[in-house]
Amino acid sequence: MSDSKVLFEITEANLNTGLRGVPVGTVRTSKVDPQRGVSYVGYSIADLAKLDPEAVIFLLIYKHLPSTDELTPFKADLVSRSAVDPQVFAALAQLPKQGHPMEWMITGLMLLGMTGKTAYNNYTEDALNLIARLPTMLAAVFRLHHGRGDPIPSEPERGYIENFVHMLGGPGADPARLTSFLRVFYVLHMDHGGGNLSTFSGKAVASGLADIYASLAAAMAGLYGPRHGRANQNSLAFIQSLGTSDPDELEKIIREKLANKELIYGFGHAVLRVEDPRATIQYALGQQLYPEAPFFKTAIALRSVAVKVLSENPKISNPHPNVDAVSGSLLHACGLTDSDFYTTLFGLARCAGIAAQIVDEREHLRNGKGVAIYRSKYIAENQPDRSLEG
Ligand code: MLT
Repeated sequence: MSDSKVLFEITEANLNTGLRGVPVGTVRTSKVDPQRGVSYVGYSIADLAKLDPEAVIFLLIYKHLPSTDELTPFKADLVSRSAVDPQVFAALAQLPKQGHPMEWMITGLMLLGMTGKTAYNNYTEDALNLIARLPTMLAAVFRLHHGRGDPIPSEPERGYIENFVHMLGGPGADPARLTSFLRVFYVLHMDHGGGNLSTFSGKAVASGLADIYASLAAAMAGLYGPRHGRANQNSLAFIQSLGTSDPDELEKIIREKLANKELIYGFGHAVLRVEDPRATIQYALGQQLYPEAPFFKTAIALRSVAVKVLSENPKISNPHPNVDAVSGSLLHACGLTDSDFYTTLFGLARCAGIAAQIVDEREHLRNGKGVAIYRSKYIAENQPDRSLEG
């Protein structure tokens, strides 16, 4: 890359648009192509969705897929790092039940840091430890928040997602099908380029040399917002509110909603201009696992009806389903019926991608010097010089 190449021209119209389209840095973990969707280190998400989640964690951190000789010790390494300090569970048990599970998760990340971070901010070590411990902390959030009983002891040799499902304690779910779905859900949600809100926030906080736990707590606070990760929870509520999977009835409802300027959840995306491949993969998996689940049937019907109606509006640049259009209905079918938890599952996965990007920004980019502390420029508005003396 030449230092002098002009990448983007900023005009006043770009101000206050949330950095939309403004190049900020380089990213080594993933790429979001408006027409093809996300790939990780060059591999399409459709290919990666077939792999072990641990292999994809390895890919994001080390930038190549592990051979069998690499994957087995990597899995063992994650197992060896996975123990969570009991003080974390004790502190979580005291949190107010009215807190959203994402607020608990953010607190849990800080607790993992307080009880387990390295003394010298070793970002790679901390990233691996955090990724290894996160399922245990999150499963404890799930049980304690719901009053389902004490955390279930971890059995990490089962596998990353297999152990997570084991520690959830099967709330009305078929563990085998829940595991099949969550293994794919996890891989689909791990990373989405460098500039999405949670990833950007986590990297910005880490650039001040905060440890990775605090940086990911900040990232998860970004994910918590309904315009970002919490959209998966709202998308299920939207599907549930429709009350039908009949295409004609749905078309009428969607037209009414648009006429009332209401949001159609699960459609459109900041970058993508086609159906999100992460949605395509989930539609196909849903057809295999839960073809008759009522909310999934509504999601399937919306896949054509909403696109048809939204496409009529020339102002809508992307009328297609995004990753949230279907995930909630499938999590519900899997037996995870409390949608308040859906964003924490998104967060479980996204923490791996953000952690890998933080490691890159702190330890690899700029020939190992790392990215400078984030310091953007804001133009002062409506602030003429004033004086208290008349
Ligand atoms: C996503 O996964 O779609 C995002 O994090 C949102 C984005 O890319 O801006």
